[in-house]
Amino acid sequence: MTRDLTGERAPMSGTSVVREYGPHDTSALRALVSELQDFERRIEPRLRPGAAMAESYMAGLHRRCRDSKGQVFVADVSGTVVGFVCVLAREVFTELDDPVGSCAVVTDLVVLPSYRRQGIGRSLLDRAETYARAAGARELRIGVLARNVDARRLYLDAAFEPYHETFAKPL
Ligand SMILES: CC(C)(COP(=O)(O)OP(=O)(O)OC[C@H]1O[C@@H](n2cnc3c(N)ncnc32)[C@H](O)[C@@H]1OP(=O)(O)O)[C@@H](O)C(=O)NCCC(=O)NCCS
Repeated sequence: MTRDLTGERAPMSGTSVVREYGPHDTSALRALVSELQDFERRIEPRLRPGAAMAESYMAGLHRRCRDSKGQVFVADVSGTVVGFVCVLAREVFTELDDPVGSCAVVTDLVVLPSYRRQGIGRSLLDRAETYARAAGARELRIGVLARNVDARRLYLDAAFEPYHETFAKPL
């Protein structure tokens, strides 16, 4: 079943796999980065539009993967890429008041709207965790906008706990 990005939930009719990102996934990844950004932009309107940042952001993601033992995984439903996660296994703490060492970080996670609530986001998150563990990480972190209640629920469900909060006050 084909749906546009804002369509109703698509029943999972095909085979869903989480696999490593490959060069042939470039345009799908660009669309997903843009989707994620535009989703967050509905919560924080000061963000750049997805189309204005996706290309450069992807270059930055690949660079961070090279520097910090990272990997992009995509969710593939019968040949259609419907979601991705990027995980860095070794993000070194840099500040003197940080813990010593490093942790793993999920930098991005998104599933196309019509494929949500079918377990794909959780599968991507689990894959990121497995990758980080295999690379020797002892802790996995994810940043999320406080008002992104769906993502927060997913993380709490997956046994993450709130760790750091940023408070903001418009001036
Ligand atoms: C967050 C996101 C990746 C979740 O993907 P998903 O494929 O829908 O997630 P899953 O189907 O695996 O959901 C797993 C669990 O997360 C929670 N959850 C996810 N979306 C939810 C929603 N809309 N309402 C309530 N709970 C939700 C539920 O506990 C759910 O388990 P359940 O379906 O058995 O109740 C997806 O909603 C998304 O892409 N959102 C926009 C981008 C985004 O916010 N990314 C995270 C940025 S930090």
